Amino acid sequence: MKRLAVLTSGGDAPGMNAAIRAVVRMGVARGFKVFGVRRGYTGLIAGEFVPLGPRDVGGIMERGGTMLGTTRCAEFKSEVGQNEALRQLRSYDIARLVVIGGNGSQAGSHALSCKGLGVVGVASTIDNDLVGSDATIGAATAIDVALESVDRLRVTASSLGRVFLVEVMGRECGYLATLIGIASGAEVIVTPEVPAEPEEIAMDIHAAYERGKSHAITIVAEGAKYNAEALAQYFQAHQARLGFDLRVCRLGHVQRGGAPGVADRMLATRLGAAAVEHFDAGHDGVLLGIIDGKVTGTPLAEVIHRKRLLDTSLLELARALAQ
Ligand code: ADP
Ligand code: F6P
Repeated sequence: MKRLAVLTSGGDAPGMNAAIRAVVRMGVARGFKVFGVRRGYTGLIAGEFVPLGPRDVGGIMERGGTMLGTTRCAEFKSEVGQNEALRQLRSYDIARLVVIGGNGSQAGSHALSCKGLGVVGVASTIDNDLVGSDATIGAATAIDVALESVDRLRVTASSLGRVFLVEVMGRECGYLATLIGIASGAEVIVTPEVPAEPEEIAMDIHAAYERGKSHAITIVAEGAKYNAEALAQYFQAHQARLGFDLRVCRLGHVQRGGAPGVADRMLATRLGAAAVEHFDAGHDGVLLGIIDGKVTGTPLAEVIHRKRLLDTSLLELARALAQ
């Protein structure tokens, strides 16, 4: 019987479970024996394989996180680690692997693919920074979770006339900050893609009050040139001149822990099922993502070491609408 394995790697993302479920059930439907690998590449190196059938993945679609567990595994970046992973797969007679994860995880997929393993990547990270997909599993839910918090922060900010610096995740990418900023009606958005000096940001905040606003919500991407902490330090050092009543809120890992919404469940289901269909059709070596509404495979070599560009026209839109 044909065999395939599935793992989740890197930061967990809401929807990973729906992707695992789709791989397992489509896998079984197409005649594969399916194994789950626990704890990402760490478990691959350690040979932590568990057989999975349709009933093992029941009741997981609505849960955030990943039932298989995930890790950041430094050992896997080395040849030794990768060769040990391949040895473990061979010992289970598994020649196909689905890797559900973000940029780093797909660099790992590429490394294994170059060594002859059949690998299909599934684009999954809240950061939505992967080349090869318009949307990655988890980003939409992470945005919704953040919006709930920002909407609440605005209530208290407005009551006290305060500035809030709200730091959101996204690594080196400003996608989350931009969408959270626009959808929450933030006064200012700070991203890595459009670096701004603290003095420029202070002017934007002042301008919001001058336009009659009772608060200034500033969404700061964690990867921006000045993150929330750095900006707060600057504003504190110049408090006498700037006069901001300011608070900082770092949303942090709360953004990753939501129950997946319909967009992520659908995306994960389509990509997970397509991964099996790819193997079944004799294809591998690609990252599966969604482009213009269609499931699309992009060669892993074209995906790694590249960063998805932010549509900076969205920042202009945000600025115009913050009036
Ligand atoms: P994400 O996949 O969410 O971007 P990471 O960047 O932490 O998360 O990557 C997840 C894992 O992928 C790493 O812990 C490591 O095991 C593996 N990985 C990352 N970069 C590489 C690389 N260049 N080569 C091989 N494996 C890698
Ligand atoms: O890649 C997903 C992500 O949540 C990033 O947005 C963030 O920078 C990072 O993971 C946090 O990683 P960790 O969970 O290891 O602290």
